[in-house]
Amino acid sequence: TISKELQAIHDAHELLRKFYHHLLVNTKEGQHALEYLLERGFSRESIDKFQIGYSLNSWDFVCKFLLKREFAPEWIEKAGLIIKREKDGTYFDRFRDRIMFPIFDRNGNTIAFSGRSLGEEPKYLNSPETAIFNKSKILYNFHLAKPHIRKIQQAVLFEGFADVIAADRSGVENGIATMGTSLTEEHITLLRQNVQSVTICYDSDKAGIEAAYRAGNLLTDADFKLKVAIMPDGLDPDEYIKVFGPEKFRNEVIGASHTWMGFKFLYFRRGKNLQHEGDRLAYIEEILREISKLTKAVEKDHYLRQLASEFSLSLDALKQQQKQIFFAEK
Ligand code: CTP
Ligand code: MN
Ligand code: MN
Ligand code: MN
Ligand code: MN
Repeated sequence: TISKELQAIHDAHELLRKFYHHLLVNTKEGQHALEYLLERGFSRESIDKFQIGYSLNSWDFVCKFLLKREFAPEWIEKAGLIIKREKDGTYFDRFRDRIMFPIFDRNGNTIAFSGRSLGEEPKYLNSPETAIFNKSKILYNFHLAKPHIRKIQQAVLFEGFADVIAADRSGVENGIATMGTSLTEEHITLLRQNVQSVTICYDSDKAGIEAAYRAGNLLTDADFKLKVAIMPDGLDPDEYIKVFGPEKFRNEVIGASHTWMGFKFLYFRRGKNLQHEGDRLAYIEEILREISKLTKAVEKDHYLRQLASEFSLSLDALKQQQKQIFFAEK
């Protein structure tokens, strides 16, 4: 029956999570993977807490391991753990020689895996969509972060697993991440049920900053109170923590995050030379457009003054132009 199949898919994930973890922490086969993680700064504590594991460099370890335990191959295939060969109908393991990050649902059940390669592309390989896993609904680490998120009424949104885990090790336990997809309406709904304030802490490279701008727009449209944390030199949070340590991460990145408007002041500046008149005028126009989206008069006034003072402009002229933009876009 259907429910027997679902149960089998759940059971297969639980069994494999435990075995992958065992392979990583207790075996010679997993030793190079463990060394890789420790070298990157993962602690033994985090490795246990997040149940990180290792999948053997084998084409049929999972096939044999689960078949021996009387799982039907069709079910394991539907679970996304093994793949059927077109030509002869035999199966092979999806995850081979990878660091395994179990993905948990809200109740802490393992419902999928993401495998990080130690060399070969792609860098991350995720379970496919299955009866129990839909990545547009899952936020990595939500089950552990939820009590912290609710308690401090604040969530920190990261790009990757390594970032969530490094942040957790640094005392930032309210971190979550999407699974290599952009933020969806389902993610936003799940967040909205638990919290009103979100800090985006994406990678400070070009892709991360663009993604932060997109996610930020979605989150403010959904009425979240928003902040954006930025790191220097294109670092991601995990790299930042490795270089600068947990305390600086808490105080100078998370603690010093920008308001959404403050982030946009920086965002529209990228790629422009504000010494040049054309770039400067384009920038002022972009910021005025953002200011005209604000609803609070005091906020509008605050940012208009900031702009006036930075570029030595008359506040009246800025106000006038802002009004023109405001009415043109109505
Ligand atoms: N990702 C993915 N597939 C890839 C690359 C990335 O699914 N080929 C997802 C992963 O969830 C990853 C996230 O996008 O965690 C962010 O990507 P990236 O910044 O490139 O990876 P990091 O998290 O920094 O990975 P690492 O630190 O292990 O290199
Ligand atoms: Mn790390
Ligand atoms: Mn990235
Ligand atoms: Mn990254
Ligand atoms: Mn990284």
